[in-house]
Amino acid sequence: MRILVTGGVGFIGSHTCVELLESGYEVTVIDNLDNSSPKALERIEQITGKRPDFVKGDIRDRACLDQIFESQKIEAVIHFAGLKSVAESVRKPIEYYSNNITGTLTLVDSMRDHGVKNIIFSSSATVYGDPAFVPITEECPKGICTNPYGWTKWMLEQVLTDLHTSDPEWNVILLRYFNPIGAHPTGLIGEDPKGIPNNLMPYITQVAIGKLEKLNVFGDDYDTPDGTGVRDYIHVVDLAKGHVHAIRKLADKEGVSVYNLGTGHGYSVLQVVEAFGKACGKPVPYEIKPRRPGDVSTNYCDPSKAERELGWTAQYGIDEMCRDSWNWQSNNPDGYRD
Ligand code: NAD
Ligand code: UD1
Repeated sequence: MRILVTGGVGFIGSHTCVELLESGYEVTVIDNLDNSSPKALERIEQITGKRPDFVKGDIRDRACLDQIFESQKIEAVIHFAGLKSVAESVRKPIEYYSNNITGTLTLVDSMRDHGVKNIIFSSSATVYGDPAFVPITEECPKGICTNPYGWTKWMLEQVLTDLHTSDPEWNVILLRYFNPIGAHPTGLIGEDPKGIPNNLMPYITQVAIGKLEKLNVFGDDYDTPDGTGVRDYIHVVDLAKGHVHAIRKLADKEGVSVYNLGTGHGYSVLQVVEAFGKACGKPVPYEIKPRRPGDVSTNYCDPSKAERELGWTAQYGIDEMCRDSWNWQSNNPDGYRD
């Protein structure tokens, strides 16, 4: 069975390609390399002994997509391609709506015309906004997003749901990721942000490697045990495996399904700092700063629906997440750049 993976050279996509190839699927990747390096493809081959078919292209390029669907027997699409920086989306809403919304509309239009009606979509816990309750189940109402990035996920969930309403042959699985961190245990693929990282773990790893002076901890006055924000961090390899389970689930043809992919455990910023210090063998310097606008206090999920219906649970804990993030960063101090 051949899967088209959009954005398959990126952080989560590259790990998912590894898991798909190791589970015997054939993989075609389309990626415009806007936020990734082709070196990840070589590394995927080093890990699995197989190289995905790669098309350097943009999902807004209809002719490019048509060419893929016409030349290969694609049975399902895992759709990662998109822009994902919250802060950048506030500055560049047109680019975010264009890339994420127009890109997805172009993709599903081409899929429909070629009779490919199975899609797994990368959504985010951000659609819950400030969650009505924790642990967050899939029944928790979608909330108010605080930025254009979040709205693109919110809207695309609706677009894909409407698609199924219009044509019940569509099978749509919406995966709401919590906070993916870690890297492949080989240290060959991992997260490689451009510029100064916005997210916690890549910032911590760059402090530990000496590229940044200290971590700014955004707020210590939240209603949490130590006052810092609590999140559900999930190892990217566990997240990637969740996609293989979702691909298998498509065979049940259940229309639209939504799953939280997280561990169900919340860790505060300071708990992550401490766990990372253990993993890298030295304390991570930090300073308490004011809260970051748009942040919520506590965000962790109830992952039991994914366990019940997909047969998937996260295997790795915070210590392994920190170990593998550090292994990746210390083996590749400049990411995929030489
Ligand atoms: P990433 O930036 O590493 O990967 C995205 C890939 O898509 C990149 O390789 C990029 O070059 C490619 N891309 C972007 N726009 C494209 C386009 N128009 N055409 C073709 N390729 C394009 O990001 P990631 O962390 O791997 O995230 C993957 C998906 O998961 C994204 O949709 C993201 O919004 C979603 N997500 C990520 C997180 C997270 O914390 N990383 C959390 C929730 C959801
Ligand atoms: C953020 C986005 C979310 C997106 C996700 C993945 C916001 C409000 N949310 O989630 O929509 O899906 O990234 O891209 O931006 N922290 C620090 N110092 C730092 C960085 C982070 O203290 O330098 C804290 C944050 O305040 C938060 C926690 O660490 O409490 C996690 O932050 P981050 O990694 O940015 O993820 P989220 O904010 O949960």
